[in-house]
Amino acid sequence: MSNSESAQRKILVTSALPYANGSIHLGHLLEYIQTDIWVRFQKSRGNQCHYVCADDAHGTAIMLRAEMEGITSEQLIERVSQEHQADFARFGVAFDNYHSTHSSENRVHSERIYTALRDAGHIATRDIEQMYDPIKGLFLADRFIKGTCPKCKTADQYGDNCEACGATYTPADLIDPVSAISGATPEVRSSTHYFFKLPDFEEFLARWTREGHVQHQIANKLQEWFEAGLNEWDISRDAPYFGFEIPDAPGKYFYVWLDAPIGYLASFQNLCDREGIDFDSYWRKDSDAEVYHFIGKDIVYFHALFWPAMLEGAGMRTPTAINCHGFVTVNGAKMSKSRGTFIKAETYAEYLNPEYLRYYFAAKLTAGVDDLDLNLDDFAFRVNADLVGKVVNIASRCAGFVKKLGEGKLSTHCAEPELVARFIAAGDAIAEDFENREFGRAMRKIMELADEANTYIADKEPWVLAKQAGREQEVLDICSVGINLFRQLMVYLAPVVPQMASDAQAFLQLQSLDWHTRHDVLLGHEIAKFKPLMTRVERDRIDAMIEASKEDLAEEKKMKDAAKGPLADNPIAPEIGFDEFAKVDLRIARIAKAEYVEGADKLLKLTLDLGGETRTVFSGIRSAYAPEALEGHLTVMVANLAPRKMRFGMSEGMVLAAGSDEGIYLLEPHSGAEPGQRVT
Ligand code: 2FM
Ligand code: ZN
Repeated sequence: MSNSESAQRKILVTSALPYANGSIHLGHLLEYIQTDIWVRFQKSRGNQCHYVCADDAHGTAIMLRAEMEGITSEQLIERVSQEHQADFARFGVAFDNYHSTHSSENRVHSERIYTALRDAGHIATRDIEQMYDPIKGLFLADRFIKGTCPKCKTADQYGDNCEACGATYTPADLIDPVSAISGATPEVRSSTHYFFKLPDFEEFLARWTREGHVQHQIANKLQEWFEAGLNEWDISRDAPYFGFEIPDAPGKYFYVWLDAPIGYLASFQNLCDREGIDFDSYWRKDSDAEVYHFIGKDIVYFHALFWPAMLEGAGMRTPTAINCHGFVTVNGAKMSKSRGTFIKAETYAEYLNPEYLRYYFAAKLTAGVDDLDLNLDDFAFRVNADLVGKVVNIASRCAGFVKKLGEGKLSTHCAEPELVARFIAAGDAIAEDFENREFGRAMRKIMELADEANTYIADKEPWVLAKQAGREQEVLDICSVGINLFRQLMVYLAPVVPQMASDAQAFLQLQSLDWHTRHDVLLGHEIAKFKPLMTRVERDRIDAMIEASKEDLAEEKKMKDAAKGPLADNPIAPEIGFDEFAKVDLRIARIAKAEYVEGADKLLKLTLDLGGETRTVFSGIRSAYAPEALEGHLTVMVANLAPRKMRFGMSEGMVLAAGSDEGIYLLEPHSGAEPGQRVT
């Protein structure tokens, strides 16, 4: 069926918005490549399809990252946006618009949706208690609190679960909790929060999620959540916060996840304003447009529950479908920084052709949510065997004869009309696979056709015939069929390998490789000189990429440490007045005794003489000092620090030291200072 026979669909497509504080890596790329292939396919079919995305720019993590780098949040998100867009361009991910959640459009839509929900009675407020960092002056999300696991007593565990024993708990259960940002002991404080009343939408969501808007594996997961009961969703955060202030709620900000999906609308709005597209015709309740969100399986709750409920509550249409995918593993395991398999987009592109990856992902993608393994041996094998060995091979075997025997022109008649017709007809089933996101199935069909084309040429042996006088036309006929078959394959592969397709289009001298153009068989058509369209994957480039990824990790660590500077655990202390400083009782102390602490690889136990009084202090200086080297030395201690109960005993103060991971230097006064003397 040619395109003109089918009605043009109006389609809006999104991929998840990447956070504006990290690099794009292979895990992200699976989603952007999957979405981009689907979008390119829709466009090839002649549908009106818009693909929008944006940076997810709000939240505490971004605010703190900017602070750590000594720049404003706005500067950080601008820089990262440029980096992200450069990465997407390298991989041929062709958004129609790339915007930011920190944009005027997003503010307008966030306020509009929130106000609509509030006016319809779907917002509640109540006070909640939370950990608060008194030094930084901010409330701490669980992941910003560290302490000792209440169950197995492993130190340095994050807020809500223990990496050592797997226990889950609330930060309040941690032993000796500290703020991971400033090192301060958190306090419990109460403040008013705003909640979206998700339970108001229980009935709507139960129906919506069973109406085919999500894959069946996801529908099952959602069923579990329904059975567990839906809770109200906390959508506010207290200042300081990088985001949008909630209307009529000074000092309260929209939680980043509230305005993130609204960022889809904002980016589309921005596109509509630029290109004169009618935004409402896509988003009003009775819209005839289709809306698809491609996401990873980790953010289903936000997209299949909160998001449709918000839209429904605000009187808008809901998505046609949430298309969920699994995670990327490399060589059968989770991507790992130390193994060099946590590969950044930029690093990959330095060593390997991005289209290899696009093809490999396509060859393994299904419409399901299973994880996808990038096995690097299989990757090299598949790309070389399929793209280079099968597809490019057809053109390279035929092009020379067309040049030589037809002066670059294909035969004026088709020697194998049935074969060519079969390749054209195969486009319908392949299109169906693309439409259903069964890309792996489509790739298998395309490679079966490529095998058939190669078999045809191998059986006809044009290179043998070419040596026989008077058979030139026959050779040209065979090779013209070969070029026609190659052209069909490139139409089908174009959404997957757009750069290769564009080079093939130049070689074939065609205006377009859009799906419907395949119906016109190329007769008497002139083609250009053949240039290799894809080179083989070299194993040593893969190895070099893995090594470079290990170096990325080392580089990252160095930058982090440099940004942290000597105040590693407390990068930016707020300004204090003299009165506050005077509260700190600094004293000269003599290290009477220093000992190792069994079971603590960072600590030394110091017995400090304060000129009559003795204190025990545990200090994290073991990596820098042997105990005996310290005994007898003078140092400076905080004498009025509240005693802290540690696993190994009570610590009654703190000694002062400078340094980072590179080295630790205990402060020592000039000689003549006396133990117990006040330091001012
Ligand atoms: O998980 C993430 O990386 C989020 N930044 C995705 C946001 S998608 C959408 F809701 F904005
Ligand atoms: Zn534990």
